[in-house]
Amino acid sequence: MSYAIIGFGKIGQALAKAFARSGIEVSVATTRDPASFASHTAAIGPTIIPQTLAEAVKADIIFLAVRFESHPEVARALPGWKGKTVVDAMNTQAPLDELNGLPSSAVVAKAFSGAKLVKGFNHLVAAVLDQDPSAHGGRRVVFLASDDDRAAAEIGALAEKLGFAPIKLGGLSEGGLLVHARGNSWGQLIFKDLIKFDR
Ligand SMILES: NC(=O)c1ccc[n+]([C@@H]2O[C@H](COP(=O)([O-])OP(=O)(O)OC[C@H]3O[C@@H](n4cnc5c(N)ncnc54)[C@H](OP(=O)(O)O)[C@@H]3O)[C@@H](O)[C@H]2O)c1
Repeated sequence: MSYAIIGFGKIGQALAKAFARSGIEVSVATTRDPASFASHTAAIGPTIIPQTLAEAVKADIIFLAVRFESHPEVARALPGWKGKTVVDAMNTQAPLDELNGLPSSAVVAKAFSGAKLVKGFNHLVAAVLDQDPSAHGGRRVVFLASDDDRAAAEIGALAEKLGFAPIKLGGLSEGGLLVHARGNSWGQLIFKDLIKFDR
């Protein structure tokens, strides 16, 4: 299984640190020449590989850590996304009418046509997601929502490897709304920094 993070801003770097902590290789891409941020990826860890967008989207599992407005441009990097799992870590406060009344992840799912889409890793501020998820004797919770149970399980297994405690919320338009931002309203679980104790 291969992994990529698209976007290397606050959230992309927080995700990269989680991969580095776990020693899992992940490609990272932005709009820039990978050489321009290679020293930054190297500082995070040797498993963080700077690549072009065209190279990075060859991965099996792709995290979207770009601004919501940029996702259509990323989607155009491949003619189709069949066989890929896309993890939507984005939030948007775009007004509802701009999203045709859809949850933002449903809009993203349309853009990445054919992909299995999982909404996740989006509910914490970057400064919290950035930290070691082993905290206070437990593991930091990440929420996952998807209309594809197998994809949610796949990303749940990855979240465990990254040291988080994943909690599946169900479909995008059901439990997923708890972690969706829409207009000026935030889903009830957004920004809730929860720790799961396994004892
Ligand atoms: N910041 C938070 O606390 C937080 C918390 C939860 C969720 N989120 C969500 O996470 C997403 C990223 O937020 P952020 O704060 O990390 O943003 P950011 O710091 O502005 O980083 C955005 C990254 O995306 C890259 N990018 C822009 N257009 C791109 C394209 N077409 N292809 C590839 N890369 C592209 C940018 O790189 P270049 O422009 O250099 O190419 C930059 O590395 C947003 O959707 C946000 O809503 C943020």
